[in-house]
Amino acid sequence: MYIDFTGLPARQAYFWLASTVTPRPVAWVSTVSASGQPNLAPFSFFQVVTHTPPTLMICPLANSDGSMKDTPANIEATGEFVVNLVPHALVQQMNQTSFGFERGVSEWEKAGLSGLTSQKVAPRRVLGAPVAFECRKVGVTPYPADKPSCWIVLGEVVAAHVDPAILAPDHQVDPDRLDLVSRMGADWYGRTKSDLNFELPRPEGWAR
Ligand SMILES: Cc1cc2nc3c(=O)[nH]c(=O)nc-3n(C[C@H](O)[C@H](O)[C@H](O)COP(=O)(O)O)c2cc1C
Repeated sequence: MYIDFTGLPARQAYFWLASTVTPRPVAWVSTVSASGQPNLAPFSFFQVVTHTPPTLMICPLANSDGSMKDTPANIEATGEFVVNLVPHALVQQMNQTSFGFERGVSEWEKAGLSGLTSQKVAPRRVLGAPVAFECRKVGVTPYPADKPSCWIVLGEVVAAHVDPAILAPDHQVDPDRLDLVSRMGADWYGRTKSDLNFELPRPEGWAR
């Protein structure tokens, strides 16, 4: 099956990209609006960009009317956010926070979540998230510039909160203990906790 992406309708391009570039990690992003309203929403267009300086990227898509979602708008306005990683134990709550509630409604309250105070930024982090990264805005860039379909948000990680329970006795992070969910196509999710995970050492002679 060959798909020519030139001129492919946007919905189909989204379908093929979002359902094959998987599994994607989920950034559960906590922000505060310029007027102080807390906001929490999941984004799977999410990655590490580099470690020096430690930088994360999320790419929230535009709303159907072309406007910015609340998360990038809040980051643009306040310059701060927290990326919480999503454990399987909180997958229902994470899903609830993706609902497009009216402005002024707190996703935290609707999903029955508790927040913990962050050290360096104003947005709270999610109680129960095994890892939370406090981030400061590097940039919020519309892409493409003339008619944005998304905003590329880069944030520098200024602090992290890590639950020691995710560590194995050898101090490595254990995917089973971490037990994060990942996004796949349609309504499918994956888990880092899996009997099918395997270790693969780098090729012999590879210098670390
Ligand atoms: C697992 C999951 C992943 C999601 N990933 C994205 C994403 O990468 N980009 C996006 O624009 N919306 C994504 N969404 C939808 C947003 O969470 C949803 O539009 C949310 O209402 C945005 O909230 P906000 O307007 O408060 O920022 C995702 C939803 C779920 C459940």
